[in-house]
Amino acid sequence: MMDHTRNEIIIKVEHLYKSFKSEIVLSDISLELFHGENLVVLGKSGAGKSVLLKCITGLIPPDKGDIILFDHNISDLNEDALNNLKKRIGYVFQGAALYDSMSVRENLLFPLERAENEISHKEKGFIIEEILENVGLKDSINKMPSELSGGMRKRAGLARALVLRPEIIMYDEPTTGLDPATSHEISELILQVQRIFRTSSIIVTHDMHCARLTSNRIMILENSCFIADGTYESLRKNKTKSVQDYFLN
Ligand SMILES: Nc1ncnc2c1ncn2[C@@H]1O[C@H](COP(=O)(O)OP(=O)(O)OP(=O)(O)O)[C@@H](O)[C@H]1O
Ligand SMILES: [Mg+2]
Repeated sequence: MMDHTRNEIIIKVEHLYKSFKSEIVLSDISLELFHGENLVVLGKSGAGKSVLLKCITGLIPPDKGDIILFDHNISDLNEDALNNLKKRIGYVFQGAALYDSMSVRENLLFPLERAENEISHKEKGFIIEEILENVGLKDSINKMPSELSGGMRKRAGLARALVLRPEIIMYDEPTTGLDPATSHEISELILQVQRIFRTSSIIVTHDMHCARLTSNRIMILENSCFIADGTYESLRKNKTKSVQDYFLN
């Protein structure tokens, strides 16, 4: 549910540039994510969507530009301060990236243990069960990742991002590789998480069904720049050919 009452900006990216050797991936990228908002970033394969998420979350350093998270410019922060900010952001990786040698429970316990907080082991167990219940995976708590279906792996990846109760969740291709019905379920789950946990999210995808269902707003990344910014309905009416191309079929 959108929190329109404050309209607070939770992430601000200004004039971001990133190249690898001679390849320009992001060129003069700016965006704002509002509190409670689901912002979908659409773009073709190789457009730089994952690079954008990694720059925003401090996983890769940008060449130029400012990234302001929760009112802090991340370039002003020392490592400890940046790590503390990162704990407030959940990351659902492209392809789930679960630890294959750990059960679902252990995959969720890992970030909880690493956060070194003062929660007892028993309490951690309750948190894990509650989160798994929320993503519809309670019965799979003792399964290994290899025993999970594609949709279940996506759910587990989301559950692992949720255990630290992040205020922001970054979703990298949450529905890619899933059949339409499972993809629909995961999109519904993303909405449910937004509602229940009151998170703000950037959702990177090229799945238009997921974009329509989950977005409060959509930005389209093409040729290293954003070419459109608006609601699904407003972009659907946009006459620009490169925008219209996303709405074919
Ligand atoms: N660590 C890296 N070193 C060098 N080049 C990279 C690196 N990471 C990404 N790239 C390049 O940056 C470009 C954008 O990659 P990115 O992974 O962001 O694409 P994407 O939009 O997420 O695509 P997909 O939809 O296929 O996931 C690609 O050409 C890729 O080869
Ligand atoms: Mg990617």
